[in-house]
Amino acid sequence: MSFEAIFHVIKNEMGLSPETVGLNTVERLIERRMKVVGEKYVSSYCRLVKSSVDEKQALFNEMSVPETWFFRDHEPFKVLSSFVKELDLAEDRVLNILSIPCSTGEEPYSIAMVLKDVGLSERQFRIDAVDISTEVLKKARKGIYSDNSFRGKEISFRDKYFERKGSVYFISDKIKSTVNFLNKNVLDEDFMSGKGVYDIIFCRNLLIYFDYETKCKVLNTLSGLMHKQAMLVLGHAETGRMPEGVFESLHLPGSFAYQKAGAAVSRPEKPSSNSALAASLACSVMRPSKSVTETVVDKKPIVEAVVSTVEGVDEWVDSIEALADSGQLKEAITECDCLIEAVPDSAQGYYLKGVVLLAFDADFEAAAAFKKAVYLDPKNYQSLIHLAVLSEESGDLRASENYRARADRLRKNAQVSVG
Ligand SMILES: C[S@@+](CC[C@H](N)C(=O)[O-])C[C@H]1O[C@@H](n2cnc3c(N)ncnc32)[C@H](O)[C@@H]1O
Repeated sequence: MSFEAIFHVIKNEMGLSPETVGLNTVERLIERRMKVVGEKYVSSYCRLVKSSVDEKQALFNEMSVPETWFFRDHEPFKVLSSFVKELDLAEDRVLNILSIPCSTGEEPYSIAMVLKDVGLSERQFRIDAVDISTEVLKKARKGIYSDNSFRGKEISFRDKYFERKGSVYFISDKIKSTVNFLNKNVLDEDFMSGKGVYDIIFCRNLLIYFDYETKCKVLNTLSGLMHKQAMLVLGHAETGRMPEGVFESLHLPGSFAYQKAGAAVSRPEKPSSNSALAASLACSVMRPSKSVTETVVDKKPIVEAVVSTVEGVDEWVDSIEALADSGQLKEAITECDCLIEAVPDSAQGYYLKGVVLLAFDADFEAAAAFKKAVYLDPKNYQSLIHLAVLSEESGDLRASENYRARADRLRKNAQVSVG
């Protein structure tokens, strides 16, 4: 039996598309679990996963990509601050916030620090922080962090809200006590039902690992958990094509903030002329001819063998490169997602998305995009090189050597066939 059946469980029940992490990596992680439980055969391990709640949880823990740090990307936290300042909160009104997925806690604790900084007392807000992995939640609840959780130059919050003991930092109790950590799967039918309605939801760096159908399911679930005028904040990499009529962008510079469709509400910051332009540009740059777009977008299911040869894709790719070159990175990401949606086997689309994500310093998400490109086109030399560099930077020298060796083989083969 191959790994396919376990890939299915991971994809259908956790949401993670194995290609976004790399099939070899996922296989390695499964093998690690098999070793722990003493299973030699993939088929018997698969039966175990399907019959044991505990083993399924252990497998999901293993698959979890917990990369996170305090004030990741900065901008969303500035938007949060403005959003809350604009709300005319009555003394006894409690602001409800959801951080999904919260990983090891850096995101929800950053949210709590922002809310304290804008003057809210602990009684005026409540943060639910949710993750599928029980392992990351253990760490989150402890609230003890190393240097790796503090990245970038702006870390003055560390002196204010942490106590240093040796080489680690303990988060202060007044921040810790505001976050309620919960172990839940966002794909569960009754996800957070009965937990109330949220004013703000942060859902960052999760949808990047999901396919479009799963992304739509999650966004619909989140919409159902939000007040009419609530704000949803997504990550850089996960806006792109959004389900119709569920959310509208708030067009706030540097962050990917949304409101529910039809929620007319005044916002803390007006769209700048640039971002208004960006909005009108969304999914509107050079595209394949209308008939091609209709074929690939409007009609489902998409026949991949046909769409991969559509005319006009090269021009579309060129126009995305032009957007990226001119610094319109958000628009370039949106266009990459539109291209990938229209041409699901476009290795070039994933490669480009990876390159743009690098410009956002979103290395993890960029690596996921390059892996998908290599999965679709094992001869995608540039993606292999990027993966070699990213692996090296993250300290995974073995993976780096592997990628470089594959790239070298491609280069040599190309030289031989030219010579
Ligand atoms: C990269 S972290 C994101 C943390 C944080 N939001 C950030 O942007 O820094 C991704 C997290 O998603 C969690 N996750 C994956 N699938 C999930 C699911 N179906 N439900 C809830 N959490 C999930 C993983 O366990 C992992 O901790």
